[in-house]
Amino acid sequence: MKKETYYITTPIYYVNALPHIGHAYTTIIADAAARYQRDILKKETLFLTGTDENSQKNVEAAEETGQPTASYVDAMSKQWEETWNELKIENDVFIRTTSENHKKSVEAFFKRVWEKGDIYKGTYEGLYCIGCEEFYSEADAVDGACPVHKRKLELLKEENYFFKLSKYREPLLKYIQENPQFVVPVTKRNEVVSYIEKFMEDVSISRQSMEWGIPVPTDDSQVLYVWFDALINYLSGIGFGADEEKFNTFWPANAHLIGKDILKFHAALWPAMLMSAGLPLPKQVIAHGYFTVDGEKMSKSLGNVINPIAAAERHGVEALRYYLLSAIPFGNDGDVSMEKFEKIYESDLKNGIGNLVSRVLSMVEKYCDAKVPKRTGENYFSFRPAGTLVVDVIDNFAFSDLIKRINEAISNVNTCINVEEPWKLEKEGKHERVEGILCESLEQIRSIAWALYPIMPETAKKIWTQLGLNSEDELKKNIGSIWTDDVLVCGQVIHKGDILFT
Ligand code: MSP
Repeated sequence: MKKETYYITTPIYYVNALPHIGHAYTTIIADAAARYQRDILKKETLFLTGTDENSQKNVEAAEETGQPTASYVDAMSKQWEETWNELKIENDVFIRTTSENHKKSVEAFFKRVWEKGDIYKGTYEGLYCIGCEEFYSEADAVDGACPVHKRKLELLKEENYFFKLSKYREPLLKYIQENPQFVVPVTKRNEVVSYIEKFMEDVSISRQSMEWGIPVPTDDSQVLYVWFDALINYLSGIGFGADEEKFNTFWPANAHLIGKDILKFHAALWPAMLMSAGLPLPKQVIAHGYFTVDGEKMSKSLGNVINPIAAAERHGVEALRYYLLSAIPFGNDGDVSMEKFEKIYESDLKNGIGNLVSRVLSMVEKYCDAKVPKRTGENYFSFRPAGTLVVDVIDNFAFSDLIKRINEAISNVNTCINVEEPWKLEKEGKHERVEGILCESLEQIRSIAWALYPIMPETAKKIWTQLGLNSEDELKKNIGSIWTDDVLVCGQVIHKGDILFT
C-alpha cells in the first residue's frame, strides 16, 4: 500500500546575516513536526528549508564585506546549513535560490503564468524598502522611512512586469471561506481576509534597476522580484519542472510554517500565483508569533540578537530546542532570555523529567533487581500515558501545549509515587504492590519519552535505552495509530545510566 505523504516547509532565509533564535524557532518547530510525522506516524515525510539568495539585502551585505555577491551567498548559505545541522534539524531538502534547478523551475512556473495572460507590462512608481523587500504607501511610511527597518524608503519609478494579483481576489476569498483551516491561527486568517479585501492590488514582479537575481524569462533586461522567485522554492525543492514523479508525490504541501511577518506573501500572493499557474494550493499556512528581547524586536543594530549555537553551549542543543518551543504559547509573541532558559532547564529538565527517570530507575534497581517488574493486574495510575494525550496539540503545532502536557504527566507520576510511597510498602512486605507501581511508572516514562521525542530525540533515545529497550528498534515500531500501553517485557534488565541533565 502507498504510504501517506507529508510535506512541510520553513520560509527560506535571507543570508544577509547569520541565524538567530527567531529563525531557529521556526526551523525547530518544523523539525519537530516532521519527526512526528516521519518517525511516529510513519508517513513518507519531506521537510524543506533553505536560503533566499536573490535579495538586494544580500547584495548590500556582500558589499559591506567587500566580497562578490556570489561568493558571499555561497559562504553564508553554508553557515546556515551548518547551524541547522548543529541544532539537529533533519531536513530532507536544503534549497538555494541561486541554484540552477531552482532557476529552471522558476522559468517553468513563469511560463505558465505568462501563458495564462496574467503578466503585463506597466509603470511602477512608489516607495520601496529593501530591508523588507516590499512596497509601501505614503500612509505607511513614518517620516519617509520604513516602519519596520526605520531606513529611508526609496522612490522607485520603473517599467516593470506586473502580476494580475487582483484578478484572484474573489477566488481566494471563496477558497479561504470554504477551507477555514487554510490559514491558522484564526486571528491570522482574519488579518489575511481583511488584506485581500482591501489591499490586494496587482503587484510588480520585476526590477529594471537591479542586476542580482533571476532574469525575467521573456526579457533579460530585468530580474524577477525576489518574492516572486522565492515562493517558487516550495516547488523547485521537490522537482517542479524536472522530476514530475517526486513533485506529484509531495505537492500540494501539507504545511507552510512561517512567522507572522510574511503572512500576506504566503496566504495571498502565493495562492494567487498557484491559481494562475493551475496548480493546487498548499493545505495549510501556519503563522507563529515573534520572539522579543526585553520587549524589543531582535535586530543587528540593537545588538540584542541571540545566536542559537552560543545559547546552546551551556546546556546543549536539545535543552535549547525544548526551551525555545516552550518559550511562548504558539501564535503569540513573547520575550525570551538566557535567564528564562536557565529556569526552565532547572525546573522542567533537571528537576522534572531527569529526576523522575533517575528516581524510578533507582527504585527498580533497589526493589526489583534492576529488572522490569510484573504487572499485578491492578491499575495504580488513574491517568493515561502521556503519549496518548498529545496528538491534538501536535496536529496544531502547539508545541508549547505539548510541553505542558508532558510536565503534567511527569507531575502525575510523581504524585502517584509520593502517595503510594513504595519505600514504605516494601518495608511492610507489600512487594507485589511495589512491583505494580514501578511497572506502571516505567510504562509512563516510556510514553513520556515518545511525547518528548520530536523535540528532544537523543534524550528520548537515552530514556528508552535506560529502560532496557533498543532505541532504534523502539523507533522502528509501528506503534499503531499512536502510542500503545504495555510494551515493556517483564524481566527485561534496565540500564540506569548517567543522569540525563546535570
Ligand atoms: N526570505 C524571506 C522568506 C521567503 S519564504 C518564500 C524572509 N526571510 S527572513 O530571513 O527574514 O526570515 C523570516 C522568518 O524568520 C520569519 O517568517 C520567521 O519564521 C523567522 N523569524 C525571524 N525573526 C523572528 C523572531 N524574532 N521570532 C520568531 N521568528 C522569527 O522573510
